[in-house]
Amino acid sequence: MDSTNKGFTFSQIANMYGITITKNAFYAYEDKGSIPKAERVKRGKTSTRIWSLEQLPSIGEKFGFLKRTNGTKIVSFFTQKGGTGKTPLAFQFARTLALHNMKVLVIGLDSQETITNILKGAKETDSLPENLDDLYDDGLYEVFKREVKLRDAIQRTDLPTLSFIPENAGLAALETDLNHEADPINAMEKHFFSKLKNWGEFDYIICDCNPSWGRVINSVLYSSDLLVSPLKCDASTLTTTKTFFSLLADFEEDLEFEIDKFVIPTLLENNKLSRQVLSYYETQFSNICAKTPLKKTVVIDEAQVLQQSVMEHQPNSPIYQDLMALFKELVEVLEFVTEDESPDTDMDDSGPMKTETTAQI
Ligand SMILES: Nc1ncnc2c1ncn2[C@@H]1O[C@H](COP(=O)(O)OP(=O)(O)OP(=O)(O)O)[C@@H](O)[C@H]1O
Ligand SMILES: [Mg+2]
Repeated sequence: MDSTNKGFTFSQIANMYGITITKNAFYAYEDKGSIPKAERVKRGKTSTRIWSLEQLPSIGEKFGFLKRTNGTKIVSFFTQKGGTGKTPLAFQFARTLALHNMKVLVIGLDSQETITNILKGAKETDSLPENLDDLYDDGLYEVFKREVKLRDAIQRTDLPTLSFIPENAGLAALETDLNHEADPINAMEKHFFSKLKNWGEFDYIICDCNPSWGRVINSVLYSSDLLVSPLKCDASTLTTTKTFFSLLADFEEDLEFEIDKFVIPTLLENNKLSRQVLSYYETQFSNICAKTPLKKTVVIDEAQVLQQSVMEHQPNSPIYQDLMALFKELVEVLEFVTEDESPDTDMDDSGPMKTETTAQI
């Protein structure tokens, strides 16, 4: 696809959102004011209509494949194994939702700062700023310590519907400080999620977790509407997966609650072992396994380097068809798991209470 900086033509938009109506029919929506007004750009003797990146979300809301659901959904990407695709899928899902006019907040929970770097873009610099503090972005820890307001820790991206709270070294301090909380399992809910939900600014909060258990991750999982676990189709991931799900079961038993889960087989390769692992996942997790496994591809990386979704970068690629199907399924699952639940539901007598706060954001 051409550079998105130059904007998007009808045929590019049609590819991205799977639009099947004709160009003239699409233009008629613009003439009526049902979608944003395009810029007219001269191309030879004719002029063509070009929409900007910022205009895409409202087009996506009307013509896209992901439909809006109610309330703020918290979705966490977590597995105990590194390199299974948590960060790329969290990023792709977040950006694709945002391109459908859903307001999305990404919270990075990995001190490797991978998703923060994707969202911010790698800045080439050959000298340090005058004030070294300028290198450090406030994040969850500074909000927790009340050094900054939650809304001030949120950073914007090139898409008006996509924001993020950056990861920083304070995540390690947050981990330690949660030990001193009276009710650490509810800490994320109390200090962040309940405030964000009360604020009502976001449709989705997407958490990109690091691959190990800890106080912060436990508390994030406890508050999540859905745990999404990308599982790489290889033997070493399969081995850790057994331990992971048994630890998860212990965690649920201790807290007397059950987390809704969704498993995505990733990095599928064209060899016997990889297909065998896939078939194990499909059998073992039959009720919660994505219908579409994701094949190993460079397209996800290529898009990521450009800070784009595959939807913007390569909407004609086979992996995009698979991602579209996957994200549709994920949104359906989320609708189902949160259907009868209010996001702030308290536990019953046997479990810990989820604290609500109406404190200033
Ligand atoms: N089908 C696929 N699904 C997911 N990732 C894929 C796929 N094909 C290739 N990749 C690539 O595999 C890599 C996996 O991503 P990454 O190592 O960031 O995963 P992660 O689970 O977030 O790792 P970590 O645990 O270190 O945070 C990325 O470079 C991604 O582009
Ligand atoms: Mg990661």
